[in-house]
Amino acid sequence: MKIAIFGLGYVGAVSGACFAELGHEVIGVDISDAKINLINRGEAPIVEEMIAELTAGAVKLGKLRAMKDAAAAVGETDVSLVSVGTPTGRDGAPDLSYVDHVVEEIGAALRGTAKSHTVVIRSTIPPGSTEQRLAPLLEKAAGEKLGARIHLAFNPEFLREGRSVRDFRQPPFTIIGALSDVAFEQTAALYAGVESEVIRTDPATAESIKLLSNAWHGLKVAFANEAARILKPSQVDVRKALEIFAKDTVLNISPAYLRPGFAFGGSCLPKDLRAMISLADRSQAAAPIMKATLMSNEAQLDAALTAIRACGRRPVTLFGLAFKPGTDDLRESPYVALAEKLIGKGYDLRIVDPFVDASRLMGKNKEFIEREIPHFVDLMARDAEDAVDAAEIIVYGHATGVDKGAILERGVGKILIDLSGDRDLECCGADYKGVAW
Ligand SMILES: NC(=O)c1ccc[n+]([C@@H]2O[C@H](COP(=O)([O-])OP(=O)(O)OC[C@H]3O[C@@H](n4cnc5c(N)ncnc54)[C@H](O)[C@@H]3O)[C@@H](O)[C@H]2O)c1
Repeated sequence: MKIAIFGLGYVGAVSGACFAELGHEVIGVDISDAKINLINRGEAPIVEEMIAELTAGAVKLGKLRAMKDAAAAVGETDVSLVSVGTPTGRDGAPDLSYVDHVVEEIGAALRGTAKSHTVVIRSTIPPGSTEQRLAPLLEKAAGEKLGARIHLAFNPEFLREGRSVRDFRQPPFTIIGALSDVAFEQTAALYAGVESEVIRTDPATAESIKLLSNAWHGLKVAFANEAARILKPSQVDVRKALEIFAKDTVLNISPAYLRPGFAFGGSCLPKDLRAMISLADRSQAAAPIMKATLMSNEAQLDAALTAIRACGRRPVTLFGLAFKPGTDDLRESPYVALAEKLIGKGYDLRIVDPFVDASRLMGKNKEFIEREIPHFVDLMARDAEDAVDAAEIIVYGHATGVDKGAILERGVGKILIDLSGDRDLECCGADYKGVAW
């Protein structure tokens, strides 16, 4: 394919040389004469492992050259890849003016021509930018609607400086947030020869994955450093501890727990976070992540309460009281906390949780219930069908298969607030709302 790459910085220079290596014909575009001259002499405009050799080889073969003239570059190519900078602006949001400008230049270059062209945004931009900001800009500049001959996609870049050529050749995945089938196909075709899963999604999801990834990487670094500050006084070699910790790919380094929904609770997570905070406090080590984790969990509880209150209806039936399904353990259950808040706000509340109910009858959890939440006894509903019928709002934490069946059958016309992310609930005829999606 013939590709124009706008912005010959770290992303653009690496992409240019690597796409040329894959056999594409690449024209780099930049406002910097120095960078253009370097490339045309066969020299890389950045310092990176392998990039000097790749650039020299591609230029020699005639697969890579650079120019300043955006319109000429668009005129000679099938795809424009935008990798200009998006530095932090005054208000903390990224400054998208360079991307805007380039997209307008590309649109203007396409105006009045008959050529088909796909614009691929590679710069990191906030969710919604491609569809809500760049698509209208491109349409306006080109003087026509997208989707006929002009196409637009967002394709995030995951390379790490210092090993960016290796990362280009072996990316974790190739994500394409395409606005049309052609946009997807053209963008995917760029990566023919790169071994990685190609995932098609909508542009806003693709944009958010890039931000999520970097926020997650930052969090991992800060977590490791915070763990070291907290544990060092206990004579722990945290390098060794974290090395072993990372070997758990079932719970620690895995998709486990990475599902938005409701707050965590139970007998272990809050208690052990508090143990870490107390260790930190003992040695006056800063532990903002551990503390903020508890605060963020509390915020999720408040978000659920806000979502329920925003419905402006009552009474409420809550499905699930134990801290997770399949147990009767009520210790630090966020559902207990939510129920308490609802009672505090004067809600008429019913609670369905057969595990808790059975343990109350069998006496297992009797002591906890009688001591901590005696007022809950009268709220426990035995019959899920009756509890659904009596509710205006159903709050779904968790339920047995039979009780979930009662919601699916009888939930029509009710408001259903899903804290669990159970996709079956979305089509039960209720007015479905998720707290976290
Ligand atoms: N550097 C990384 O490791 C990395 C990784 C993934 C994503 N990103 C994202 O990719 C984007 C680019 O990052 P970078 O580090 O390559 O930036 P950079 O600052 O190194 O390069 C940007 C280039 O764009 C050029 N430019 C500015 N306006 C232009 C215009 N109108 N026409 C043509 N060129 C123009 C600049 O001269 C510069 O050469 C950013 O959004 C960044 O967040 C960067």
